[in-house]
Amino acid sequence: MRRKAVIPPGQELISREQLRVRVEELARQITLDYRDKRLVMIGVLKGAFIFTADLCRALDLECEIDFIRVRSYGTARQSAGTIQFTKGPELDLNGKDVLLVEDIVDTGITMAWMRDYFRSGPAATVRICALIDKTERRQVPVEVDYAGFQLDQGFLVGYGLDCAERYRHLPAIHSLEEKEAEGLTPNSTT
Ligand code: IMP
Ligand code: MG
Repeated sequence: MRRKAVIPPGQELISREQLRVRVEELARQITLDYRDKRLVMIGVLKGAFIFTADLCRALDLECEIDFIRVRSYGTARQSAGTIQFTKGPELDLNGKDVLLVEDIVDTGITMAWMRDYFRSGPAATVRICALIDKTERRQVPVEVDYAGFQLDQGFLVGYGLDCAERYRHLPAIHSLEEKEAEGLTPNSTT
């Protein structure tokens, strides 16, 4: 049976190889910083599912893994500010060192909300790791402790990132054409 070809959208911005190299660099730093800590990586679904899987496998460290999912109302391209969990953390975080693993910090609204939630809980420390730190539209100050790539603009898909649920499976990161991103239906989850 003939399979339908996947035609990657837009321009390839970050290749599979660049992602692999950068994830290993981040993992080396995290391994050093958390050597004497009790690391719990909390991946933010769905966008960070591939990043979290690759990052945890590159660590030379024992760690626990959990996932959360939040709903942030907005459009396919931008979050709005009303945030709630659709899946909360399941592990006991008491005294643990939480590392939030997110795909993109854009306006910062989603990450600031998650950071404040975990900082007001029983975890000993809470830090942030984001594959992409997008500074152009930042509205709320968020300090990203481990940033994979800093980008100013553009809407990105692939390696877990979607536009209205499309393109998450692509192994590289692509920038989506403006007209294609605008034409897609609204998205309410990250
Ligand atoms: P923020 O609250 O504006 O920082 O929204 C961050 C969330 O918006 C991320 O977790 C992504 O799900 C989504 N997002 C922001 N920019 C992009 C992008 O370029 N591609 C895909 N998703 C994005
Ligand atoms: Mg998304």
